[in-house]
Amino acid sequence: MTDNTAGGDVRLAGISKHYGTFTAVHPLDLTIPQGSFFALLGASGCGKTTTLRMIAGLEEPSTGTVSLGDRDVTQLPPYKRPVNTVFQSYALFPHMDIFENIAFGLRRRGIKSVKKQVDEMIELVQLGEHTRKKPHQLSGGQQQRVAVARALINHPQVLLLDEPLGALDLKLRRQMQLELKRIQTEVGITFVHVTHDQEEAMTMADTVAVMNAGRVEQLGAPAELYENPRTTFVANFLGTSNLIEASVESAGDDVVVSAAGTALRLPAARCSTTPRSGGKLLVGVRPEKISLVPAEEEHTVGAGRNKITGTIADSSFIGVSTQFVVDSAVCPELEVYVQNIERDARLVPGARVVLHWNPEHTFGLDAAQDIDAGVETVEESA
Ligand SMILES: Nc1ncnc2c1ncn2[C@@H]1O[C@H](COP(=O)(O)OP(=O)(O)OP(=O)(O)O)[C@@H](O)[C@H]1O
Ligand SMILES: [Mg+2]
Repeated sequence: MTDNTAGGDVRLAGISKHYGTFTAVHPLDLTIPQGSFFALLGASGCGKTTTLRMIAGLEEPSTGTVSLGDRDVTQLPPYKRPVNTVFQSYALFPHMDIFENIAFGLRRRGIKSVKKQVDEMIELVQLGEHTRKKPHQLSGGQQQRVAVARALINHPQVLLLDEPLGALDLKLRRQMQLELKRIQTEVGITFVHVTHDQEEAMTMADTVAVMNAGRVEQLGAPAELYENPRTTFVANFLGTSNLIEASVESAGDDVVVSAAGTALRLPAARCSTTPRSGGKLLVGVRPEKISLVPAEEEHTVGAGRNKITGTIADSSFIGVSTQFVVDSAVCPELEVYVQNIERDARLVPGARVVLHWNPEHTFGLDAAQDIDAGVETVEESA
């Protein structure tokens, strides 16, 4: 393997994959900067593994090229690419101990004195006291670290991770997310991480590419994607969005829309489409941006806030916050997350309430899209 300082970005140019008449990945252009932690996020079947396998050389693209730095590697077999993959099933060698599992890549290349490098890897993934155990004597999280160490010892230029935390329970998963992030920062090589868990992608990655049905819908830093989704799929798949169907009343720098007789405002700069007076717009606001007061307190709401009146349909207490579902003529089932600082005993199902938020926290999407795209995709694909 080459050393990772030679480096360079991973560049996919027009790569696609067809299986017969089915297109698993539509022509895709993507640059993954050297040294970045990049996540491919999407629901089951959207083409994440296929994309990763084309980078690894395990799948031949139907069209397009894969380059590493200036080098076109499209025709190179997997073992000649400076790339290693960690799969969900760690595929450790059961009869070898941890030390030998990690040493495997070096031994295969005929390297005799492996101790120093293996010890370094063991230290990196913090498995010091386990070196002479067999894989079945380790926890899932520990086995996962062995799999990472075994790949990193080859000094790949790029590490591909396909749902590497999928087999772990939630708490361990969260712990390993931070651990993998630490390892990536420490070794500084490019990580391409495939996951269907949006929280995982946002916690770990510098850049997230949201995939849907074989296409990248949007790409950006986690906060940028979350705050400024450009499609309904991204708005719904990444966290939760309230999307309100509205008609545009006036369209300047400040856009005024109307939904069921209620006027709402938003900045034109936060619209993914150019709003036209008389046209339609989907108006979006995240649940945590909204405040809730009993209807009789409406006079306390500051001027210039977006306001909707409704009735609490449901509330669930989840510790740090209470999640309300509010029905309104403006929009059914609005989600509102209220931090549990001082809980207002009047905010119970059946109560009339006023929802209000800063118009700056509102985004606008093209109304020609499916308003429910990206909702409950897990169930759909099951
Ligand atoms: N060898 C194959 N032959 C035919 N169809 C395939 C083949 N491999 C994958 N597909 C199809 O291509 C699509 C994308 O598959 P892929 O494995 O890339 O999905 P994914 O995003 O990784 O999903 P998951 O989250 O479930 O792992 C799926 O609809 C799948 O059924
Ligand atoms: Mg997959």
